[in-house]
Amino acid sequence: MKSILQTAKELLLPALRPDGTAADFTMGNGHDTLFLSQSVPRGTVWAFDIQPAALQATAALLAAHGAGENVRLILDSHSNLDQYIRQPLDAGMFNLGYLPWADKTITTRRETTLQAVGKAVDLLRPGGVLTIVVYPGHEEGRREGEALQQRLSALDAKRYDVLLHRLIHVPDCPYILAVERRK
Ligand SMILES: C[S@@+](CC[C@H](N)C(=O)[O-])C[C@H]1O[C@@H](n2cnc3c(N)ncnc32)[C@H](O)[C@@H]1O
Repeated sequence: MKSILQTAKELLLPALRPDGTAADFTMGNGHDTLFLSQSVPRGTVWAFDIQPAALQATAALLAAHGAGENVRLILDSHSNLDQYIRQPLDAGMFNLGYLPWADKTITTRRETTLQAVGKAVDLLRPGGVLTIVVYPGHEEGRREGEALQQRLSALDAKRYDVLLHRLIHVPDCPYILAVERRK
């Protein structure tokens, strides 16, 4: 079976347009930012992280691939995304949790994640897709995922499709929540 991170990217593919707008809400090492930058070559990618080291790592990765002219690297919480992104969003990615090589106390947190996901859902254009990779193997991740499932279950089914993609026999395994705004 494909990896969770690969599946998250594939869920976004139908929504990505060469001149579209996309966002990586948890930049980290920049792998998702690079994927989005290459997927919207004439568009704009917004990338957020609260750690300066993430911006440095991402800038280096983009440069190494000759990519990134369409990327805006933002050192701020994704919960402030509405201060930056003013146009409808084609695609957005959250990869929650912490960076394996960095300080594990710098992790995404329920309250700010819920705010950010709510704002990102509101920005989706018709046909736009948001993917959220959740890591229930640590306590904050488990609670974050439960809170997100509760919040996203309440979305209007006439306007949104909400998907849960999960290995149900491996409870600690990362899983995907995805939201598509219906056309
Ligand atoms: C699992 S890592 C992301 C990995 C990344 N997608 C990659 O390809 O390497 C999670 C990232 O979320 C960042 N983060 C935590 N809280 C945040 C917040 N409120 N806003 C934006 N980023 C945040 C962390 O600093 C960390 O770099």
